[in-house]
Amino acid sequence: MPRLFIAVDVSDETKEQLFRFRVDIPAARWVPREQLHLTMAFLGDVEREQINTLVGTLSEIRNPAFDLSIGEPGCFPNRKRPRTLWIGIKPEPHLMVLAEQLRKAILSCGIVQEARPFFPHITLARIKQPSGNDGDAFLNQGGRREAALLAVREFILFESRLGSRGVQHIPLRKFQLTAQGKNDLCQ
Ligand code: 2AM
Repeated sequence: MPRLFIAVDVSDETKEQLFRFRVDIPAARWVPREQLHLTMAFLGDVEREQINTLVGTLSEIRNPAFDLSIGEPGCFPNRKRPRTLWIGIKPEPHLMVLAEQLRKAILSCGIVQEARPFFPHITLARIKQPSGNDGDAFLNQGGRREAALLAVREFILFESRLGSRGVQHIPLRKFQLTAQGKNDLCQ
């Protein structure tokens, strides 16, 4: 069964700004440039037959395009044992409305998601075995930041596929954010 998620892609300029948050942490596996994204919803494994219904439902979402501000660095689960290093995204109303529209659309297709609340962030790195000061190294990087914007013009249904060369994110369909909510075929 394909493993699906919905995300907002990041422009090259924003990726450049996100890369400035990289610090020297030997154990960190940094997300490759082409895979940087803002996850809007994680669907997990979905029956292939359900994808058409899902695409139809997602294409009915109406939400205008909007801009987001890149926020502060943070980590999951905590500073002492950081497994995921991320940059927070300010929870603008348009973003939160879109996340809720997606949650409802996915649910209406009978796809059950985890109940965890939407917490907007862009994952920059994962650490399998964090050492004591990795969290501090990432979080105490004042002065490196610049105001950065993330222009949200579409959301994308991705398949996450594990292959011999690691994880691949394959865009299945792109949905334009316009007042009409029109969507375009991706491939
Ligand atoms: P994140 O990195 O933004 O936290 C594709 O796998 C994306 O889906 C990942 O980048 C991750 O988003 C999110 N993801 C993966 N597994 C997940 C899970 N079990 N629950 C929620 N989100 C998950």
